[in-house]
Amino acid sequence: MSDTLLRASVYVGKGGVGKTTSTAHLGVSAVQDHDLDVLLIDLAGTQNDLAASFGLLDEVADPDAPISAIFGDDWDFIQENIPNVVERMIFKTDEGVDLIPSDVGLSGADNNLASVNLEDRYKILDEFLTEEIAPRYDLVLMDLPGNENNIVLNGLFASERTIVPLKPGEFERNQLSNLENDLEEFELDTNGEVSPVVSMVLPTMVDSVSNQSSEFVEYLSEEYPDRTSTPIKDTQNIGNLQGEGKTLFAAADDELYGTGKEARTAYREATTKLLERLRQ
Ligand SMILES: Nc1ncnc2c1ncn2[C@@H]1O[C@H](COP(=O)(O)OP(=O)(O)OP(=O)(O)O)[C@@H](O)[C@H]1O
Ligand SMILES: [Mg+2]
Repeated sequence: MSDTLLRASVYVGKGGVGKTTSTAHLGVSAVQDHDLDVLLIDLAGTQNDLAASFGLLDEVADPDAPISAIFGDDWDFIQENIPNVVERMIFKTDEGVDLIPSDVGLSGADNNLASVNLEDRYKILDEFLTEEIAPRYDLVLMDLPGNENNIVLNGLFASERTIVPLKPGEFERNQLSNLENDLEEFELDTNGEVSPVVSMVLPTMVDSVSNQSSEFVEYLSEEYPDRTSTPIKDTQNIGNLQGEGKTLFAAADDELYGTGKEARTAYREATTKLLERLRQ
């Protein structure tokens, strides 16, 4: 294990573009293909989609150590008095990555953060990663909610690097410039404390026949040539496997369609590219 923790957030201010799917697949590939110790943190609300992706919904339903606790006033006390509190936050998946699920306390934690002084408000997660996660893992990927709140700002501050999944669609071309505007605004709103950069753009749910898809991929590759990863094919395998609590990496070759195999390869390539960029 290396002593520097690589960090990235999956973020874009838009729902249903493949944020959670990408977090899961990038994480598993980093374990299986790059032999890293990887932690995924779900900060994206209370649905626990990431836990569902690994078939852990029941296990995480009532965590004895929720991630939201780190944002509360009692955290120091909890840390000192509850043995192994960080280990108890972490769940093991069948695919090699570890997971900290989201919990119902996150919206309350967001509200509480509003009353924390500006000096400290965005730095709580960063401190937690440095103190507790860096000694244990090589890479942390955070699945952030698609809005602007104090939890998002903590994620962006703690990682600085963002991975941006985008799917083809009529209005989607603007998403990336909207995102860059949002990121600039975060920087202004926080007096330069939070200054995230886009590390990788990931075209998702791309089908090989529609013009919309190919124009979209072309546009991204022209606008963001170094940062656009191999497009992830639209494939029924992803949704079906999510229903079984698995990623593409847990499926045998003969269980996958051609599109599923292509999507799996593309996620592998994206992971290699991401790690290169995070190590720069
Ligand atoms: N490459 C793909 N091909 C087909 N379906 C996909 C693909 N990637 C994701 N999906 C499906 O698209 C839906 C949205 O994906 P996902 O949940 O990852 O997006 P999200 O951005 O995390 O959404 P939310 O904003 O709700 O958190 C899911 O039903 C998922 O199964
Ligand atoms: Mg999601």
